[in-house]
Amino acid sequence: MSDKITTMEKIVSLCKRRGFIFQSSEIYGGIRGFWDYGPLGVELKRNVKETWWREMVTGHDNTAAPPAAPSRFDMVGLESTIIMDPKIWKASGHYDLFYDMFVDCKTCKGRFRADHVATSDCPRKPSKRPGEHDECELTEPREFNLMFKTFVGALIDPTAEAYLRPETAQGMFVNFKNVLSTSRVKVPFGIAQIGKSFRNEITPRNYTFRSREFEQMEMEFFCSPETSQDWYAYWRDRRVEWYVSLGLKSDNLRLREHGPNERAHYSCGTADIEYAYPFLPKGEFGELEGVSHRGDFDLRSHMEGKLIREGDELVVERDEHGQPRHPGSGKDLSYFDDALGAKYVPHVIEPAGGVGRTALALLCEAYDEDAIPDEKGEPQERVVLRLHPRIAPVKAAVFPLVKKDGQPEIAAEIYRALKKRWNVFYDEKGSIGKRYRRQDESGTPFCITVDHQTTEDETVTLRDRDTTEQTRVKIADLESIVAERIGG
Ligand code: GAP
Repeated sequence: MSDKITTMEKIVSLCKRRGFIFQSSEIYGGIRGFWDYGPLGVELKRNVKETWWREMVTGHDNTAAPPAAPSRFDMVGLESTIIMDPKIWKASGHYDLFYDMFVDCKTCKGRFRADHVATSDCPRKPSKRPGEHDECELTEPREFNLMFKTFVGALIDPTAEAYLRPETAQGMFVNFKNVLSTSRVKVPFGIAQIGKSFRNEITPRNYTFRSREFEQMEMEFFCSPETSQDWYAYWRDRRVEWYVSLGLKSDNLRLREHGPNERAHYSCGTADIEYAYPFLPKGEFGELEGVSHRGDFDLRSHMEGKLIREGDELVVERDEHGQPRHPGSGKDLSYFDDALGAKYVPHVIEPAGGVGRTALALLCEAYDEDAIPDEKGEPQERVVLRLHPRIAPVKAAVFPLVKKDGQPEIAAEIYRALKKRWNVFYDEKGSIGKRYRRQDESGTPFCITVDHQTTEDETVTLRDRDTTEQTRVKIADLESIVAERIGG
């Protein structure tokens, strides 16, 4: 790969050209921080989510401990609402604490995240950093709550105020007792959720990396206090393996354990799984997923009210009358552990990842340029997305070499047969070389071509995207060969 910035520009251009990602509301000039996923992008994202769901929920074996797990455990899924009772955000701390610091420029009216000033652009020309023009007049940093506010019902007044969730996590904490009493699960168990979250980011940037509307894949794992550190280590390492299994194999992926000063006030351990996105300066990494040991902070907050740290203790924050400043539900969210014969508030391990950031890392990792011989044997430059077959939007493309001699009919039959199982594409227009090239750019791992020999011996060519090698295989064997190469 060549120069970093150029690479990112090329990836953005490919994503537009091939229908992966579009700027939201583009025909009206676009809205910052919002992105639409086109026909290929939506398939890529669905594959990321399905792979995650299978890994965390439906593929989980409740009867035996997976390798390296401290014990067996249960896993279930949940879908909670985007708008919830606003008291939830008060008890969780988001209402008071979920903010970024910003500075305004009184001259150009620009608003910048205080910690991004050194890397932001002043809208004035020539391009400089905010504060660097003689006319710039930056304010002192102030707080800006990132939660999007809305109103529920017909009244537009403070009693009707509600928030679009900034994380899916709270929906799982407040449903802890519901899940426990209805699903026959026992601690240790996890609740997983995939869904939209919203943050009114002050400076959305770096393509889809920092968006205002995005999807999260989060899991809240409830365990006993004694076993919690072992579970934290287990989930942290397992989550890294998941990214590796999707193809993020290079030095671009790393696990970074937070130091005690970097952690949130409730955290007993946090590690970020990070990726060296090409838009970042060399040597810098961006967060793909955070894995946190949250102690009993969340369940206690929703029982007792908003908690603050006093020395080593988390205590309920009180108002001038000695009452909880933001009361919890008052419901008992503790758990009686039959095996231990003891009651406790479960501790929580939370792996929290982003669908968009995973899709973006996979696209960046997969982007490649090489040269392959054309029909005349001349080397031709090509762009290829070397996506793992499991997450490739289209698994196979089926082509008749020519639009005659019964080839389109046979190709359509193969297409229909494979389509029952995978997302498959049919194309009979243009030269075969161009058709291959288009699929290479889309990340399609296999191209199947029907040619004159097919009518003689019922074989087709199967072309591998990465090696461009073509092998002749029987039509009858196609499905099993493709399944084996995709890995299921
Ligand atoms: N419940 C914990 C939580 O939400 P987080 O680190 O703020 O933790 C988890 O978010 C993941 O959600 C991040 O690692 C990232 O993948 C994704 N994410 C967070 N903010 C995002 C944004 N503005 N745009 C895109 N993805 C975002």
